[in-house]
Amino acid sequence: MISFDYSDKAVLVTGAGRGLGLAIARAFHEAGAIVFVNDRTAEMVASAMAKLGGGDRLIAAPADLATAAGARKAVAPALAQGALDILVNNAAVNIERGIEETSDDLWAIHLAVNLKAPFFTVQAALPLLAKSQGLVINVASELGLHAIPNNVAYVAAKHGLVTMSKAMAIELAPQGVRVNAICPGTMDTELMADCARDSGDPENYYRSFRAYHPLGRIASPDEIAQFVLCLASPAAAFMTGSAVAIDGGSTAGRV
Ligand SMILES: NC(=O)c1ccc[n+]([C@@H]2O[C@H](COP(=O)([O-])OP(=O)(O)OC[C@H]3O[C@@H](n4cnc5c(N)ncnc54)[C@H](O)[C@@H]3O)[C@@H](O)[C@H]2O)c1
Repeated sequence: MISFDYSDKAVLVTGAGRGLGLAIARAFHEAGAIVFVNDRTAEMVASAMAKLGGGDRLIAAPADLATAAGARKAVAPALAQGALDILVNNAAVNIERGIEETSDDLWAIHLAVNLKAPFFTVQAALPLLAKSQGLVINVASELGLHAIPNNVAYVAAKHGLVTMSKAMAIELAPQGVRVNAICPGTMDTELMADCARDSGDPENYYRSFRAYHPLGRIASPDEIAQFVLCLASPAAAFMTGSAVAIDGGSTAGRV
């Protein structure tokens, strides 16, 4: 494990209540950062902060990101502190449906949480990020780089997030703010467990996703979180507008 020192940095992680967001918040917290912890409700945030061990370097930032006002509210604690170096837009929903079952409401929630919220958090955080010469990391997906069936709204929103990251990187480069996206493959999180349960055959669901990755396994959220810390480090200082696959080879081709 590489050891990082983020003790002079303040980081906002959205959707940090569980899964990858919680793992990213933990990794930054253990590396000494001040971490603003966002999830939908104050209770979810309090529970996440308890799991992270509490302390005055964890600051609650509860807000439902399904609206622009909610996304702005998530940034408010950082604005109150006057500090933000790294914004990790991690929160997302993934409700797998075929085209016939994809309703207007299903589109709306995917676009709101997975695409518009990362826009409005960046917009709200921009004065702080410009001051700190900061960095945005948008958690997209391998499904922001290619497609699978029966998940059209999620696939489209994640492709949008990849492209929006590039558009933001170009526009914000003159202000010294960098924007990158990461595109993870399947991770063993509660989201995966939810999808597996919904499929009606969880065992087969997990088996097929292991086989789907050329490395023959799915990722742990902690290993993806470690990569986020690499990406936020000075080693990646020349990187902006990139969408980096960390996907066990799933977008490279089939074995
Ligand atoms: N799990 C995977 O296999 C996988 C693969 C590729 C990309 N991703 C992406 O990684 C990120 C994290 O995924 P995960 O597996 O940890 O998901 P998860 O469902 O386990 O966690 C997502 C978190 O986001 C929060 N969230 C959802 N809607 C919200 C809202 N309106 N406001 C605030 N918070 C909200 C949830 O409460 C939850 O804590 C997502 O962007 C997801 O699309 C996941």
